[in-house]
Amino acid sequence: MSLPVAELHMHIEGSLEPELIFELAERNSVTLPYRDIDDLRSRYEFTDLQSFLDLYFANMQVLRTEQDFADLARAYFARAAQGGVAHAEIFCNPQAHMARGVSLEVVIDGIMDAVSASEREFGLSSGVIAAVLRDRPVREAVDMLADLLAMRAPIVGIGLDSAEVGNPPSLFEDVFARARAEGLHTVAHAGEEGPPEYIWQALDLLGAERIDHGVRALEDPELVRRLVDEQIPLTVCPLSNVRLRVVDTMAVHPVRRMMTEGLVVTVNSDDPAYFGGYVDDNFTALRDAVDLTDGERDILARNSIRASFASEARKSELLAAR
Ligand code: ADE
Ligand code: ZN
Repeated sequence: MSLPVAELHMHIEGSLEPELIFELAERNSVTLPYRDIDDLRSRYEFTDLQSFLDLYFANMQVLRTEQDFADLARAYFARAAQGGVAHAEIFCNPQAHMARGVSLEVVIDGIMDAVSASEREFGLSSGVIAAVLRDRPVREAVDMLADLLAMRAPIVGIGLDSAEVGNPPSLFEDVFARARAEGLHTVAHAGEEGPPEYIWQALDLLGAERIDHGVRALEDPELVRRLVDEQIPLTVCPLSNVRLRVVDTMAVHPVRRMMTEGLVVTVNSDDPAYFGGYVDDNFTALRDAVDLTDGERDILARNSIRASFASEARKSELLAAR
């Protein structure tokens, strides 16, 4: 038996499968601009991050009620548990929903409903990270954090995602300072499409405890040294990198080179409904394309558990489970 995995980088809205999109559209009387599921699936061909984000945000319109968010998260937990995930830290994008009139309470309460049930149903522990949309006004992020704190949302941290290039971490220094002061964990997407400089900023200006993606760190040897010295985990998403053309093919994905350099690498699904699979599918793709061994898979699984924000007791339990 192999070690269980902690999934540390997935966007819950990115686990919205085509079937559920159609089911929720029907439930909420939303007219979709697609003829059928095949027509929708034919659009899952991306040229870069923005081409994906356009579809990702468009499809979210079917999410309206607490029940919708609970159903979405429950479907993810069920599928993730089946694929060997025992702990998950999931991103949500409240601003994307608030901007179209869905309240923060609906988003958080719906997701939390599934979070509590997943412990009971699947033995899967989890935490929610509210991610700031970096391509929207800084003021909106400030307000979202204030709202989350005011409602005492049971989130474990704050993240930073969406269109990276031109939206550097430095813009969000104050928001992240407030989050840290309130005892929240901080993570940030950096070095996916953006330059190594954004990873430096995420560390130095945002106090990011983990870097989401970070594959472009390899372009800067001094940065690699820093990440290795401080053992900053990188939440790498191989299938996502191929589908968004961050790397050319899985065969040339730098995951092994990153491990050899001494980086703390973890494997994650990012947006599993859009990029061809869940965490186990990412491991399978690496096994097939770069001959990732069972031993290497165990190292990556162990890294993910250690890099998680789970309690020390939970981490020990997972590290001992085989
Ligand atoms: N939001 C959802 N998926 C994302 C990704 N891969 N990069 C940035 N923002 C995202
Ligand atoms: Zn992501």
